[in-house]
This record gives sequence, C-alpha cells and structure tokens, in this order.
Amino acid sequence: MAILVTGGAGFIGSHTCVQLLNAGYEVIVLDNLSNASEKSLDRVRELTGKNLKFYKGDILDRDILNKVFETEDISSVIHFAGLKSVGESVKKPLEYYDNNITGTLTLVDVMRQHNVKNIIFSSSATVYGDPAEIPITEKCPKGQCTNPYGWTKSMLEQILTDIQHADNEWNVVLLRYFNPIGAHPSGRMGENPNGIPNNLMPYITQVAVGKLKELSIFGDDYDTTDGTGVRDYIHVMDLADGHVKALSKLAKGTGLSIYNLGTGTGYSVLDIVHNFERATGIKIPYKVAPRRAGDIAVCYSNADKAKKELGWEANYGILEMCRDSWNWQKSNPEGY
Ligand code: NAD
Ligand code: UFG
Repeated sequence: MAILVTGGAGFIGSHTCVQLLNAGYEVIVLDNLSNASEKSLDRVRELTGKNLKFYKGDILDRDILNKVFETEDISSVIHFAGLKSVGESVKKPLEYYDNNITGTLTLVDVMRQHNVKNIIFSSSATVYGDPAEIPITEKCPKGQCTNPYGWTKSMLEQILTDIQHADNEWNVVLLRYFNPIGAHPSGRMGENPNGIPNNLMPYITQVAVGKLKELSIFGDDYDTTDGTGVRDYIHVMDLADGHVKALSKLAKGTGLSIYNLGTGTGYSVLDIVHNFERATGIKIPYKVAPRRAGDIAVCYSNADKAKKELGWEANYGILEMCRDSWNWQKSNPEGY
C-alpha cells in the first residue's frame, strides 16, 4: 500500500516524502510543478537512498487522478497541493478558489470513487484569524480570514468535515501549521520561493546571501515585548514528522481530528533577526517599515493535543531553524 502525496515536490511536501520513505512507506507524488522543481524529488531519492514514483499532473485533472488511483495501490492521501501566496490570492481570487477548492473537490471525489477515504489536509493557523485566545488551542473558534488564500483553507476544512460527517468511513486529519521554516539539515533541500519572498525567513536568508539589500520589518508598534509581530516558527523536519505521526492516527480509523502543528513558543521579528545572526555570524541590515495589511500582532500555538494524541512534538530549536535555513540558502543561492 502506498501514500499519495499531492504537492509532494513543494517545500513541506518534499521534506515529508523524506520522512515517509525513512519510515518505510511507499510514496507516490502528484504535482503539477506550478511552484516546484522536479529536482526536489531527485534530492529526496538522494537523501533516502529510496525511490518514489512521480506523476506530473494537476489535481483539477480527473483523468490523471483516475489513472493514479487505478495504477497504484493507495491507502491514504496527504494533500499539500495548493496555491499559497497570500498577496497573489488577493489579486487572483478566482484562480485561488478554483485551484484550491475545485482541485480538492475533484481529488476527494476521485478518492471516493476508488474507495480511498483517508486524507491528511494541509491547513493553517490562518483559519484562526485574529485569534480569540493565545496560546491557540484547537478549540479556539475559527476567525475572519483576511485574504482568499486563508478562506480556501477555512472552507476546505468545513468541506472535509461535512464529508466525514456524512460518511463515517472517511478518516480526516486537519493539520493547522504555524510558520514553517528551516530546511533539511544536509542543506540539499529547502524552500524555493519564486521572485522576492513574502515570508520572513526566506527574505532574511536572501539578505544574508546578498540578493536583497535589507529586511523591512513590518511594524514595530504592535502590543508585543519589542513591538514587532510574534509567530510560532516550526522546523520543516518537525512538521514532516507530524505527518508521519498523523498517518498512524488515520490507520486507526478515528474519524475527524484537528491538530495544531507548532512549537508553542512565539518569537518576534527582531528575535528571529537576532537568532539568525547568532546562528550564522551574519549581520542582517534592517529598517522599520509600516505594518503590512492583514497582519496580526501575535500568533502561537498550544501544541499539547498533538503531543497527547499523536505522540508528536517539535524537537528543533530556533537556532537550528536559522542554521538550516541558511545552510540551504548558501549552498543553493539560486534554489534548485
Ligand atoms: P509549495 O508551493 O512549496 O507546495 C505546494 C505544491 O503544490 C507545489 O509543489 C505546487 O507545484 C503544487 N500544486 C499547486 N497547485 C497544484 C495543482 N492544482 N495540482 C497539482 N499540484 C499543485 O508550498 P508549501 O509551503 O510546501 O505548502 C504546502 C501546503 O501547506 C499548501 O497547501 C499550503 O497552503 C500549506 N501551508 C503552508 C504554509 C507555509 O507557510 N509554507 C503554512 C500553512 C499551510
Ligand atoms: N515580516 C516582516 N518583513 C518581511 C516579512 C515578514 O517584518 O519581509 C513579519 C510579518 O509582518 C510577521 C512575521 O514577519 O510579523 C511573519 O511573517 P510571514 O509572512 O513569514 O508569515 P505570516 O505569519 O504572515 O504567514 C505565514 C504564511 C501564511 C500562514 C501563516 C500561518 O504566509 O500562509 O504563516 O501558518 F497562514
């Protein structure tokens, strides 16, 4: 039996493939390469010494999905495939709703036709909106998202919940990621953003490598210890392990489950800059800029539920996250 990993060539997907292969799973990847390079999968093979099968294809394409499910003996799906740029989603809402929502509806319909009813879905802390409680437990009510990308996550959580309620043969795990950073400790795999990065860590590593001049810190007047925004950064290898643990949960057939995947610790933007400098010895020039529209002040998890029920917790600390992000960037300045 194999695990189908949609979006498996991407940042989190490729690291998860490494950990799945290391745990002994057979892995099939479906990715349209709209935001990834197939080279990431060569690196997965290189690092694990194991093979995985790759289908270049789109989750909107029913024919390729049927072909995959007819050809392969799939037990469960880990569903990463989706568009994820917050800013782009504001400009292209139709493309985001179509890709993420229609794509997922097509995927789960084909899964149902082939009687594969186990799915792990990549959700996000963004579904909490401006969170009603800090640290955020899974019981915290979902909030108002500030962009179409966030709404696709919130809506897909609801859709998958309704599907599971209507047919209890489905096992659905919704994983709400906090802020994934870091890279494989080998420096052979990492995040490969197109153009100027939107997210903090890839921006910092591109300043460190000399591709960008200085970091703009979006606001220093938030109600936080140093005025800059606070987030729960999590190493991508820990996140990958969370998926391996969630697969064991699926195998036990437990219906619908929701987990935060975070460390439970918040770091401000300035904390990240200083930890990056400590981990790498490189000074990061920065200036303070106005707040970015849609940002919230503080977002970090309570990660107790995943520890209790999945036996998972984050192991990497912030210095290791900075070290591994930098290690990837410096050895691959142009990405893959
Ligand atoms: P990524 O862009 O690196 O990976 C997504 C992959 O999906 C890419 O390889 C892309 O080519 C593929 N893809 C997109 N649309 C597709 C389609 N229609 N058919 C087939 N493949 C398609 O992003 P990532 O950071 O690895 O994120 C993975 C998942 O986790 C996404 O669903 C994302 O929304 C979610 N997530 C990411 C973050 C984050 O900060 N990185 C946070 C929370 C949730
Ligand atoms: N920031 C800067 N300068 C930058 C980039 C970011 O100061 O150049 C600040 C932001 O204002 C924020 C913090 O750094 O305070 C983190 O910002 P990111 O863009 O790295 O991450 P976000 O928390 O805004 O959002 C990310 C993903 C979302 C996801 C969310 C929770 O982009 O898709 O984490 O998982 F929903």
